[in-house]
Amino acid sequence: MGRGRVTRPATRPDVVMCPGGPMLLRGDHVVVDDDGVSHATTRPVSAVCRCGKSASKPWCDGTHKVLPPKLRP
Ligand code: FES
Repeated sequence: MGRGRVTRPATRPDVVMCPGGPMLLRGDHVVVDDDGVSHATTRPVSAVCRCGKSASKPWCDGTHKVLPPKLRP
């Protein structure tokens, strides 16, 4: 496989940034948190917290929905 080869259709992105909410990852990923700890996921879609307020970091727990708009990512 050559460098830069696209292996998935552009209509199904691997990463989706949700306005005011999490970053969605499709497929198997490893997320490294601020402490350098790796968190692997095999779920079809995972939501990574971008607001910094989740009680289950690095994953989104929905807390961003109760934050004032100016504190949302
Ligand atoms: S983005 Fe959802 S809890 Fe942080």
